[in-house]
Amino acid sequence: MSNSIEIEVNGVKHQIDADPETSLLEILRNDLGLTGTKFGCGESQCGACTVLIDGSAAHSCITPLSEAVGSSITTIEGLEKNGVLHPIQQAFLDEGAMQCGYCVAGMIMAASGLLHSNPHPTEEQITQRMGGNICRCGSYPRMIRAIQRASKVMGGTK
Ligand code: FES
Ligand code: FES
Repeated sequence: MSNSIEIEVNGVKHQIDADPETSLLEILRNDLGLTGTKFGCGESQCGACTVLIDGSAAHSCITPLSEAVGSSITTIEGLEKNGVLHPIQQAFLDEGAMQCGYCVAGMIMAASGLLHSNPHPTEEQITQRMGGNICRCGSYPRMIRAIQRASKVMGGTK
């Protein structure tokens, strides 16, 4: 059954006509055209679909639209401000932390959630918290370095 539902994405409110059980990922990509968030497994196993919900990383493929109501959702498109990349985006570029790039938006959003809750993560904490995100190209070492670089730029010390 379709309902009119309001959600806030990247600071903009949207009125969506959809079944409340529709996945947030589907709404972001198909209704709002925010295709930076990727569809990977669809089963909360790969992290390609990671977004921030009220600052915490979440897998949008298993998040029903109804759960997003009243929250502030951030996608990869919402990180850059006034044409300037977010420090985590810049750090991924600077470290060359990608090959095919398919996982990267999800990785960056997961890293954003991590640094939001823990601005000074150790390498072990980074590895642990990023464990829900899979990179089939095996770019993990560079990604860890990118997150450490971003932590420093954003004020982290470790
Ligand atoms: S597509 Fe959501 S975790 Fe894989
Ligand atoms: S860069 Fe290819 S899947 Fe991660």
